[in-house]
Amino acid sequence: MWESAGGLPHSLRAGPDALRGSVADVPDTLTIVDNRTGLEYSVPIVDGSIRATDLRQITAGDDDPGLLSFDPAYLNTASCKSAITYIDGDAGILRYRGYPIEEVADTTTFLETAYLLLEGELPTADALQGWEADVRSHTYVHTNVTKFMEGFRYDAHPMGMLLGAVGALSTFYPDAKDISDPENRYLQRVRLLAKLPTIAAYIFRHSRGLPYVLPRNDLGYIGNFVNMTFEIGGKHEANPVLQNALEILLILHADHEQNCSTSAVRGVGSSHVDPFSAVSAGIAALYGPLHGGANEAVLKMLDVIGDKANVPAFIEQVKTGKGRLMGFGHRVYKSYDPRATLIKQVADSVFAETGLNPKLEIALELERIALEDDYFVSRKLYPNVDFYSGLIYQAMGYSTDYFTVLFALGRLPGWIAQWEEMLNDPEQKIARPRQIYIGPEKRSFVPMSDR
Ligand code: SDX
Repeated sequence: MWESAGGLPHSLRAGPDALRGSVADVPDTLTIVDNRTGLEYSVPIVDGSIRATDLRQITAGDDDPGLLSFDPAYLNTASCKSAITYIDGDAGILRYRGYPIEEVADTTTFLETAYLLLEGELPTADALQGWEADVRSHTYVHTNVTKFMEGFRYDAHPMGMLLGAVGALSTFYPDAKDISDPENRYLQRVRLLAKLPTIAAYIFRHSRGLPYVLPRNDLGYIGNFVNMTFEIGGKHEANPVLQNALEILLILHADHEQNCSTSAVRGVGSSHVDPFSAVSAGIAALYGPLHGGANEAVLKMLDVIGDKANVPAFIEQVKTGKGRLMGFGHRVYKSYDPRATLIKQVADSVFAETGLNPKLEIALELERIALEDDYFVSRKLYPNVDFYSGLIYQAMGYSTDYFTVLFALGRLPGWIAQWEEMLNDPEQKIARPRQIYIGPEKRSFVPMSDR
């Protein structure tokens, strides 16, 4: 709270009837003095926030509809209450349903993490077994999916294919529209979690002109995905270290509160569209290079830098505003992204198996210099989840343009959990922000002959 000349907080100073006495006596309220009218308003402070709609009472005349809050890109606006993921950006803390990410990543499977995010509690052994069996029995996709997959160009971007395929799934499951039925929502979440790996693997194979590999329900969730992507000649000797690393990476990506793609899923889902369509909106948002597409952009950046010796010059270019250090910075984390720390540990285990990715040396030098440079330090720019993940995916054999598909596979349970929470939140309704109109005032139409 800032102080004014009179020792009272600034906001209590201006009005003629400004509240006197210590602010400490005032309950959890914000007293607002409208200097246009001298009127004073008191709005409740709950959970460290005020309701934007409480500002509507503040008017400067009969024809004034009342104050709006203006917050482009929602820099300081909570869109919902959520119990799923907690992030403390300054302390670099990330928890799924209260469990620290460090513990979840080290001790659970991806489907166990998905269950935790979706149900709110860690599953018992029986519950997990039933959950895995449900997912395992829905891994096939309609053969027509493979037909329209063939319609994509050989060099179609995998995220464009994923976006189209998941949206199209809504046409195969018209029953998914009945979002009011919890049992139906459960069936759709199982279908999404079961079929996304299959579609992702088909995309991988399509990009390489390889025949599709059908799901194998005798394999685990990650093992089945790896087999569908890499099987050749009817077999694939999976590397358990790489498979375990992929599972940890997907767990680390599973949810991240109200990020851009999750907000897209919530926003589109608020119109009560089916979950396949809502998730396809999340895929579209994740595709962008400022969000999930950053892991692909990092590798392209490392390719442009080409050699460790070129790092200082590249950093100087970034500091002059020519481009960004992809994989650095975060809207919430103003210290190290805890996932980046864990991913660096995963990288060590992967590179021990695959040999060091030569680009790692460039990435480490970028990080070293950036963490000492005031341009980045002053802006609190640290490596985020995307800075090292691409190096690992590349070492695993995935192409650069496929990295964000892997991000989507990881984020899927979070998207679905957030979609469910939105539907069950009595305070939520169709998302429809307001605007501040800055266009022309009313004017007479101009016929073509006079233009
Ligand atoms: C993900 O939200 C989530 O939770 C996302 C995510 C998830 O799990 O869902 O964590 C996943 O998307 C991680 C972020 C991946 N994106 C990138 O790595 C792309 C590079 N990073 C940025 O573009 C940027 O840092 C964002 C988009 C991540 C955050 O941007 P903000 O919070 O809107 O910050 P900003 O663009 O307003 O930048 C603030 C300042 C600016 O400088 P000034 O104008 O004040 O001088 O920092 C600078 C920016 O120019 N800046 C960077 C930079 N990021 C910000 N400068 C160089 N390189 C960067 N990466």
